Amino acid sequence: MKLLIVNGPNLNWLGRREPSIYGSETFEDILTDLKSTFSDVEFDYFQSNIEGELINELQRAEDDASIGGIILNAGAYTHTSIAIADTLKSMKKKVILVHLSNLYARESERHTDLLLANADGCILGMGKQGYFAATYSIVGL
Ligand code: DQA
Repeated sequence: MKLLIVNGPNLNWLGRREPSIYGSETFEDILTDLKSTFSDVEFDYFQSNIEGELINELQRAEDDASIGGIILNAGAYTHTSIAIADTLKSMKKKVILVHLSNLYARESERHTDLLLANADGCILGMGKQGYFAATYSIVGL
């Protein structure tokens, strides 16, 4: 099965961005671990700091029959983007949200999640393991 991971703004800075919150590994490191743990799964990866580009990629993936599910960390757009929420609302593919940090243990502006009501599930506060749990939730144990 092929999965698509979509990461939003500032997640290209994993490893150098607030490592006490987000860890010291780059996403490329995490992707390498995912690929070796799930050797039967093909991972596509897309990252953008631009809201519309994330929407374009989600729409493209929805119409790409080879993609079996989507793991989305929309970063700060989680808390602000009615536009991404609208995209998710019209998607039939399974979308699992991931957040490295526990949003509800952080600043109050991070307690608003505009996307979750339109996703299939969410894993938060587990650091990089969240991407592994999300993969399991799509491909099964
Ligand atoms: C994040 C949490 C968001 O609040 C933040 O803006 C991010 C990363 C997380 O993975 O914990 O960019 O989505």
